[in-house]
Amino acid sequence: MEVIITKDCMTASTAAAKTISKLIRDKPNAVLGLATGSTPLPLYSELIRMHREEGLDFSGVTTFNLDEYIGLARDHPQSYNYFMWENLLKHINIRTENVHIPDGTTDDVPGFCKRYEEEILLAGGIDLQILGIGSDGHIGFNEPGSSFASRTRIKTLTEQTVADNARFFDGDEQDVPRHCITMGIGTIMDARMNLLLAFGKNKSKAISATIEGPVSAMTPASILQHHRTVRIFIDEAAASELK
Ligand code: F6R
Repeated sequence: MEVIITKDCMTASTAAAKTISKLIRDKPNAVLGLATGSTPLPLYSELIRMHREEGLDFSGVTTFNLDEYIGLARDHPQSYNYFMWENLLKHINIRTENVHIPDGTTDDVPGFCKRYEEEILLAGGIDLQILGIGSDGHIGFNEPGSSFASRTRIKTLTEQTVADNARFFDGDEQDVPRHCITMGIGTIMDARMNLLLAFGKNKSKAISATIEGPVSAMTPASILQHHRTVRIFIDEAAASELK
């Protein structure tokens, strides 16, 4: 594990964007795993800037998103599909057919999940997976107790995650979907590189448990201690509980 502590989230995001742009320049048909939520927003802004000002070319890149809420239409403002197009995809020259985001409206969730895993394999596997972390230590929506061997599947959000994510739904927990489709921990561990970002004091406990705690299904991100190539970019607030 390589842990990079920076004074703020902009410095961390710029450094993370450099890792991604180097990968794309070295391998123009790279496969990226993408995350949503507030954490990767400065990283996505920097990638858009690199595309516009430095010619970073996404035309050969393929993407797979980590997760999606079940029951939200693709164009719902809180769907992860909408999030990705608004905050990254529509601003870069990626091919629509190379974008993969779980379909939260499918009426065959197991069939969809199986195909999603097959599509990742067909694309050659994920070269670099971007991860945020929940305050309960989740990655993707693999909540505490998730199997380390899990693959893409349906999951139920914990009360903690529903409360954390209510801020995207005008603070109303009732509106937060209770189920999602998420890549499994096994899927994430298959990525050739994982890049985890965490900012702010409310991530500090999850970050210390991830980096310094025992590897435990109760802190799903702690399994990253067993991954060969992980870079963790955190600001000083998220690092504040490290020993
Ligand atoms: C999002 C995802 C989640 C988030 C996590 C942190 O696709 O998989 O694991 O990364 O919930 O969310 P934020 O960044 O909003 O604090």
